[in-house]
Amino acid sequence: MLRHFLRDDDLTPAEQTEVLELAAELKKAPLSRRPLEGPLSIAVLFDKTSTRTRFSFDAGIAQLGGHAIVVDTGSTQIGKGETLEDTARMFSRFTEAVVWRTYGQDRIETLAEHSTVPVVNALTDTFHPCQILADLQTIRENKGATAGLRMTYFGDGANNMAHSLMLGGVTAGMHVTIASPTGFTPDPQVVAASRARAEETGGSVTVTDDPRTGATGADVLVTDTWVSMGQEDDGKDREAPFRPFQLNDDLVSLADTDAIVLHCLPAYRGKEITAEVIDGPRSVVWDEAENRLHAQKALLVWLLEQGRS
Ligand code: CP
Ligand code: NVA
Repeated sequence: MLRHFLRDDDLTPAEQTEVLELAAELKKAPLSRRPLEGPLSIAVLFDKTSTRTRFSFDAGIAQLGGHAIVVDTGSTQIGKGETLEDTARMFSRFTEAVVWRTYGQDRIETLAEHSTVPVVNALTDTFHPCQILADLQTIRENKGATAGLRMTYFGDGANNMAHSLMLGGVTAGMHVTIASPTGFTPDPQVVAASRARAEETGGSVTVTDDPRTGATGADVLVTDTWVSMGQEDDGKDREAPFRPFQLNDDLVSLADTDAIVLHCLPAYRGKEITAEVIDGPRSVVWDEAENRLHAQKALLVWLLEQGRS
C-alpha cells in the first residue's frame, strides 16, 4: 500500500521502531539492501538551501542501488507556476519516490495527494521528520532505548524542529519538553496531536517558558537556530527573547550527568549554543548528522517495501 512520510506521526510507534532497527542494520552493512538496483530514480527537490539533507539523500540513494535526481525547484517549471497536481502526476511516471524540502506543509500534502509514489518531507516550515529519525537513532545508540527518557528542546518552539521533536519523540515513548520564549510557543494542533500520540506510548509533552525547569534532570538536550529558513525578514526580534534559552554550560549543568546534546545543524555558535557545548564531550552532533544517511535509507527501503507489497 502506498505510504508517505509527511509528518512524524505518519509512522505508528511500531513502524517507527521497525525503521530505526533497519537504520541500525544499514549502519553496520551499508550495501545490504539494494531496492533501487537498476538503477531506479528518486527525485530530491529543494525550495530551500541544504547541505546535510542533499548529500545524505544523494549518497543514500546511490547506496540503495539507485539514482538521485537532485534539483533546486527554482530551475524547474514548479518555479514558474506549474501546478503541484500536474507535477506530482508527472514525477510518479519517472521516479520511485519524491523527496521534497519546501515551505508550507500544505504544499507537500497537495503533492502527496496526487502522487502514486511515496512522498517524503525533507523539511517544511512545520515539520522536519527525517531529522528526528536520525535524532532517535542517535539517542538509541547512546542510551540503548528511547522510552521514558526526558528530552528538552530550547529555542523557537513554533519551528519545524520543535514540532517534529514533540511528535516524533512521543511516538518513541519519550517525555518531551519544549522550552521557548513567549510568542514562540508550539502550534496548539501539533501539541494536541503529540499528546494524543503520547497516550498510546506512555510519553508526555510539556511546554514551558522556563529554560532551567526544562534543563533540570533532562537526558537529552536539543536546540536549533533561532532564525529558520524563510524567517529572516519576519520582523520579529529573534535575539533578546531567546538569549536565556541558549544551550550553554550553565543549562547543561542542570541536566542528568550522562545527558547528551543534539543539534540538527547548521549551528550558530554564540547564539543558540555555545562552542563549549557543541564542541564538548556531551555533544553527539556529528553522529547525529551521519545518521541522516542511515535513517533515511531505512525509511526509503521501508516505504518502497510498503508500496510493492
Ligand atoms: N539538518 C539539516 O537538515 O541540514 P541541512 O539544512 O544542511 O540539510
Ligand atoms: N529550523 C531550521 C532547521 C534547519 C535544518 C530551519 O528550518 O531553517
